[in-house]
Amino acid sequence: MVKAVVLGAAGGIGQPLSLLLKTNLEVTELALYDIVNAPGVAVDLSHIATPAKVEGFLPPDNGLQKALAGAEVVVIPAGVPRKPGMTRDDLFKINAGIVRDLATAIATTAPKAFVLVISNPVNSTVPIVAEVFKQHKVFDPKRLFGVTTLDVVRASTFVAEVLGDRSLSPSVAVPVVGGHSGVTIVPLLSQSSHPLPSNLDTSTIDSLVNRIQFGGDEVVKAKDGAGSATLSMAYAGAEFTTKIIRALKGERGIIVPSYVNLTQEGGEALKKDLGKELDYFSAPVELGPNGVEKINGLGAIAPAERVLIDAALPELVASIEKGVSFIQTPKL
Ligand code: NAD
Ligand code: LMR
Repeated sequence: MVKAVVLGAAGGIGQPLSLLLKTNLEVTELALYDIVNAPGVAVDLSHIATPAKVEGFLPPDNGLQKALAGAEVVVIPAGVPRKPGMTRDDLFKINAGIVRDLATAIATTAPKAFVLVISNPVNSTVPIVAEVFKQHKVFDPKRLFGVTTLDVVRASTFVAEVLGDRSLSPSVAVPVVGGHSGVTIVPLLSQSSHPLPSNLDTSTIDSLVNRIQFGGDEVVKAKDGAGSATLSMAYAGAEFTTKIIRALKGERGIIVPSYVNLTQEGGEALKKDLGKELDYFSAPVELGPNGVEKINGLGAIAPAERVLIDAALPELVASIEKGVSFIQTPKL
C-alpha cells in the first residue's frame, strides 16, 4: 500500500508524471492536487486499469490537506517554468512562496512523507522545504530529496550519442553531482559505466559537459516561450519516485544521485571532500526504507571534474543561503 501525491498535478510535468505513477503497480492511492483542473486529470487517469485509486483536489474545502492525508510520497512539480532568457533563479520570486506554502501543508498534514522537490530553482527550493519543516520541528533530512534525475537521464542520452550508439543510452550510468542549475550541474564522466574513448579530443568532452549542464536551455529555447522540459522531466521524476517506492518497500542497494541535506550519514565526509562548508549537495545516495541511508562520497575525481566542482560551489552556496533566508528572515 503506497499513497503518492502530486502537487501541481495539472501542469506540463504534473500530468504525464501522474500518468506514469498511475502505471506503477505499487501505488495503491494517487492524490492529485493543483489550483486548477486536478479533478479532471484524476477522473481521466482513473479509467486506466491499474490498482491505484485516483482522486483530484482543488484548494476549496481543504483540498490540499485532504490530498496529503496519509501520504507516503509527495512529489512537487508546482510552480512556473522558465521562458527563453530566464535563469532558474529568476523563478525564485514566484516559486519560493508556492513551495513554502505547500511545504507548510505537508509539515502539518503528512510530516513523515518522503518529499521529492522538482520545482525550480531546486538549489533553493529544497532548503526552503527543510526550513519550513524545521520551523514545525518535523525535519528529517533522510526524507527530503531534490530531484536531479533529469540531469542523469540527459547524461546517459548524450554520452550514448557521443559513443555513437543510442541503443546504449538506457544502460549508460553517469553520476551527476552538485546541484540543478547550469555550472552547478557536474557530470562525472570519468565514472561513466561506458567510458569515453581515451583519445576523445578535449573540445568534444567540453561540449558534452556543456550540453549536460545546459540541456534545460536547449528545451526552453526549442519550446520558444511555451515552457521548459515537461515530458523528459516526467519520465525522470517517475524513475526517481519509483526508486524511492522500491526502497521504502524494503529493497536494498539502490543508489541514486539526489540533492540532499548534508547533516546526515556521509555528509561530513562529503564536505571534507569538497573542501567547503555547505548544507546541500547532489551526490549519489544509498536509499533504504527510511529514505537516505548514507550519502556516498564522490569517488576518484578527474582533475577537470575537480575544477567543475570548484566552479559550482559559489553559486550553490548563494542559492542555498537565498532559500534559507527566505524562510528564516522573510522580508516584510
Ligand atoms: P506548468 O506551468 O506547466 O505547471 C505547473 C503547475 O503548477 C500548474 O498546473 C499550476 O496550476 C500549478 N501550481 C501553481 N501554483 C500552485 C500551487 N500553489 N499549488 C499547486 N499547484 C500549483 O510548469 P511545468 O513545466 O510543469 O514546471 C513546473 C516546475 O518544474 C517549474 O518550476 C520548472 O522550472 C520545474 N522543472 C524542474 C525540473 C527539474 O529537473 N527539477 C525539470 C523541469 C521543470
Ligand atoms: C531542466 O533542467 O530542464 C529544468 O530545470 C527546467 C529548466 O528550467 O531548464
